Amino acid sequence: MRTALAALALSLAAPPTLRAQEEVPFVVTPDNVTLAMLELAQVGPQDFVLDLGSGDGRIVILAARRFGASGLGVEIVPDLVERSRRNAAKAGVAERAKFAEQDLFKTDLSVATVITMYLLQEVNLQLRPALLALQPGTRIVSHDWDMGDWRPDRTVTVDAPDKPVGRDKRSRLHLWVVPVRADGAWCGTGANHGARLRLVQKHQVFDATLSAGSTAQLLVGRIDGPRLRSAGGFEATMRGAQLRITQAGDAPLALVGAEFERCAG
Ligand SMILES: C[S@@+](CC[C@H](N)C(=O)[O-])C[C@H]1O[C@@H](n2cnc3c(N)ncnc32)[C@H](O)[C@@H]1O
Repeated sequence: MRTALAALALSLAAPPTLRAQEEVPFVVTPDNVTLAMLELAQVGPQDFVLDLGSGDGRIVILAARRFGASGLGVEIVPDLVERSRRNAAKAGVAERAKFAEQDLFKTDLSVATVITMYLLQEVNLQLRPALLALQPGTRIVSHDWDMGDWRPDRTVTVDAPDKPVGRDKRSRLHLWVVPVRADGAWCGTGANHGARLRLVQKHQVFDATLSAGSTAQLLVGRIDGPRLRSAGGFEATMRGAQLRITQAGDAPLALVGAEFERCAG
């Protein structure tokens, strides 16, 4: 009885990081899958790759070695952090592939242009609000686990004969590109004063009504980073607090170049 109570007290006192570590054990992403994750995110020399729960460091190390990127792996298990640093030094990329003993939930995600994760769906869902708040255009790749109703922009399936878990020796890789937050009412400026765009956004999917003069256009489309595109060929880009129509599609041609700001009130 005393032992059970002691165990209960210990579990209640355990910091959240310990529970997370127990929930997400160290399982490696096989080499060919690591490569496919980085290719899916189109990692390049200008990227900063953040691997959340970086295990033995393989994702950040390959990003640096093969694609010339810089990156940081955050990992809660000290031995794995040490091993990652040794692996990076052996691969000759210790300058660009760094590792920190750190709780992924206490990590500044905004440093990344690419985030990689091999966690669990419930951990992905806990991270989701912070991921959706990142700079539009940030790419996120998750090994196997999705993010509920924030549907991936792309999913690929990769043969993974070396996968240490599961009977199905295949991995599903999901890519999301953080969409700009364009939800709401937009008012035309300058010569387009009077034009209105009312936009309803669910993650990277939107529908909108664009009205100018006596015309009104219904737009349904997707958001790719800072760009909004509808099926009819309409395109707009959000820069800072301004939204600019770059292609009219089915909307009046005169609206190309029209700029909108958020309507007051
Ligand atoms: C499934 S492994 C993935 C390792 C590596 N990213 C890969 O794909 O090969 C998940 C890793 O997350 C680490 N981890 C679990 N909870 C964590 C937390 N709260 N903060 C940082 N790392 C954590 C685990 O120790 C483990 O090494």
